[in-house]
Amino acid sequence: MSQFTKSIFEIHKDKNKQDFYKKNAEKINWSKDLDAWVCADPEKIKSILHDKDFIVTSYEVDSFNLKLGLDFKNTKNIIGYFPLANEGEAHLKLKKQVMAQVAKNYDLCLNIFSSQLEGLIDSIFTSYDTLDLMQDILVPTVNESLLALFDIKLNGSYKKDMGFSQVLDKFVSIKRRIEIENDLTEFLASMEGNFSQDQRHYNVAQFVIGYDGFLSSLSNAIYFTLSNNQEKKLSAILWQENMPVTGIPYLARIASKDKILDGEKILKGQLIRLYLDNAAFHNSDAPHFSELFFGYGIHKCVGTQISKKMWEIFIKKIITIDKKFIIKSASYRKDDYVFLKYQNIILETYE
Ligand code: HEM
Repeated sequence: MSQFTKSIFEIHKDKNKQDFYKKNAEKINWSKDLDAWVCADPEKIKSILHDKDFIVTSYEVDSFNLKLGLDFKNTKNIIGYFPLANEGEAHLKLKKQVMAQVAKNYDLCLNIFSSQLEGLIDSIFTSYDTLDLMQDILVPTVNESLLALFDIKLNGSYKKDMGFSQVLDKFVSIKRRIEIENDLTEFLASMEGNFSQDQRHYNVAQFVIGYDGFLSSLSNAIYFTLSNNQEKKLSAILWQENMPVTGIPYLARIASKDKILDGEKILKGQLIRLYLDNAAFHNSDAPHFSELFFGYGIHKCVGTQISKKMWEIFIKKIITIDKKFIIKSASYRKDDYVFLKYQNIILETYE
């Protein structure tokens, strides 16, 4: 029997995942279940991400449309604007555009993040002994600040903790895909301002990536730190300077031609899964930050700097709380086979 409690699709959530990573760090292996090659060696991952013969995946929305007679119109248009769904000139153009957008609203986004976080932490920690760090504080804060980063103003009717980026997940159910398409339609309809439909799709695409990328890593970094410091005062915790773990445990690439790697023949069109969260354990028993969490090469994350800054702001604020705590419960978002994201982190606080 397998030593893992989770299925191969969720191995990155298993507490014994290091055994799996160790095997796939020594050399790449073919996984019949995943229908993909698997690599967990940070240096090899870097060289694959640097190699132009390994390209990003197409996310296959058209095949769902065709097979099921469904119309995932918004999903398809939005994915088209994800830099990480594009290669070549189209990718470079999009990437430059997103970098300029992030630079334009960088200070505004951080100011909103800081003031919203400060207000919510102060009011919620003083008014309640039991609180949900995610839904009460971080979800609204990240939402407001990243909406501003991408010039999105909503008319107030859209308040959900959206999980749009799950459309990047090949294994997500059709039911969930339909829900996401409906949520996207509602989200787009609640956007204010005189933007064309294309502009709306573009802005939402960038927001979706930033929102889930950041919240998933932030929630894991917080859970990891808190669970190792229970019953201490929040003000007494030594937080790591950079997020110690990531919420984006792996990336995928497709070979655009036959390649030889580790003596194995990777055929054109085959998928390779790159477990970058293994960089957290490299040469160490305790997880630690790795720059690889933000990817590598031409698709390296556009939000690296702003994410690091938001983490710094979060630490500065949370260490002003002079209360002890225990974690009452914490749960991952459902239907996630790519991201690792906490939906709830419930704390009970006391003097
Ligand atoms: C701690 C938070 C974050 C982490 C760990 C993270 C991680 C990543 C990773 C691993 C990639 C590479 C994907 C690939 O190569 O397939 C990536 C790409 C990207 N990230 Fe982030 N991200 C974070 C936050 C953000 C934020 C806040 C934004 C928006 C401001 C953002 C925007 C992007 C974009 C646009 C790309 C695509 C870049 C390209 O394809 O050239 N990310 N991110």
